[in-house]
Amino acid sequence: MALFGNEEIHRRELRNIFGRCWVFLAHESEIPANGDYVVRKIGEDKFVVVRDEQGAINVLFDACRHRGVQVCRADSGNTSHFRCPYHGWTYNTKGDLVGAPLWKNAFGGMPKEDNGLSKAAKVETKHGLIFATLDPSAPPLEEYLGGMGWYLDLVFGLNEHGVEVLGPPQRFVIDANWKSGADNFSGDDYHLGTLHRSVWEIGAFPVPFRENMMGYHIHAAPGHSLSFSMAPTEDEPGPKFFGYPEHLVETFNTSRISEHQLDVARRSRVFVGNVFPNFSILALPMTEDGAHHAPTGVLTIRTWQPHGPGQVEVWNWFCAYKNMTPDQKDRAYKAGLGTFSMGGSFEMDDTEPWITVGRTGRSVAAELLDFKLNYQMGQPGIGIAKRVEDWVGPGVVYWSRYEEGVQRNLFRFYSDMMRAPAGVWPKSSIEP
Ligand code: FES
Ligand code: FE
Repeated sequence: MALFGNEEIHRRELRNIFGRCWVFLAHESEIPANGDYVVRKIGEDKFVVVRDEQGAINVLFDACRHRGVQVCRADSGNTSHFRCPYHGWTYNTKGDLVGAPLWKNAFGGMPKEDNGLSKAAKVETKHGLIFATLDPSAPPLEEYLGGMGWYLDLVFGLNEHGVEVLGPPQRFVIDANWKSGADNFSGDDYHLGTLHRSVWEIGAFPVPFRENMMGYHIHAAPGHSLSFSMAPTEDEPGPKFFGYPEHLVETFNTSRISEHQLDVARRSRVFVGNVFPNFSILALPMTEDGAHHAPTGVLTIRTWQPHGPGQVEVWNWFCAYKNMTPDQKDRAYKAGLGTFSMGGSFEMDDTEPWITVGRTGRSVAAELLDFKLNYQMGQPGIGIAKRVEDWVGPGVVYWSRYEEGVQRNLFRFYSDMMRAPAGVWPKSSIEP
């Protein structure tokens, strides 16, 4: 239980988890032009994600090499240089030190090359999603994602136009631990019938609760889990392709994904998943107001940004396929805002219990009583979930969604990373 509130564990997470894993930072569509930048975090540390004059993406530690002062003071913008406000050391968009006031008098003779901004150890993108790691010993991004890559392709590669973000991310702080969000988005579908009951009453989501529990839980790779809501047979009525409108669905094809992936997407009503540690994805049909607008496909991506063990800042982007019409984008954005946003119907429900999880995590009683959490749903002999052997994609797979192996997969890898010695990548596996 202390995982959700202990200060010492949190410091170790910053080093062993956020200091080593691939962390999602931004989408390429946020920095389309040379010189565009956004400021993001790896763990609790700020990094500038900037497109340099040659169009390459650099992830620069936002700390001046002279005295460690924060160099970039805006959240986003376009620039050719970053100038430290303290003594004026100036860096280009590659992070190279290019000058300082009265250079000759102050530093003449000192090589500039050794004094550029520090950089993330590795930066890679997938479908425009920019990830970075601070650990030179981390495996390449594709290897780190493992089977999860297949499912990211399935969502972000549905057509050849790809995905863009709709405006800057919405940000809000909750008094909860970041892992409550990662745990929930790994596939906690079971809470919908209780916590989100009212969303059916206002017509915000079109699939009845019991039906929505039909589908697959997938331990895609160590730490990375996801869940699909899917009808038991193809002929059943109900949304397909996450509820996207017909004329958009016509552009979904196999130019970037396989027949199998397209077929899984076609049958899917909801996709929810978490890329370890703190990057979550959700695609589903929703509306902000069932009385006036039918549900439509919404794709949101988000990070659970730790602020100490007791607070999480949610960064929430709405995404659209680039070939959606302005009206479709507008509809998806409003439906998203009304449901999964700071003031959205789903989001307001979710955040309250997570606050009390954090409170229990910090409590003396939990420590004294040796209080343990229960993650047993779907284990052998418990509930109805069964292992699926003939699934077309990667991972350990269960039907139906009455299963908490997705969260056990998250915490198994968490535990491996927390125990791994520096410089040694753990040999983790996915287990039933
Ligand atoms: Fe940045 Fe001195 S601290 S120039
Ligand atoms: Fe929820």
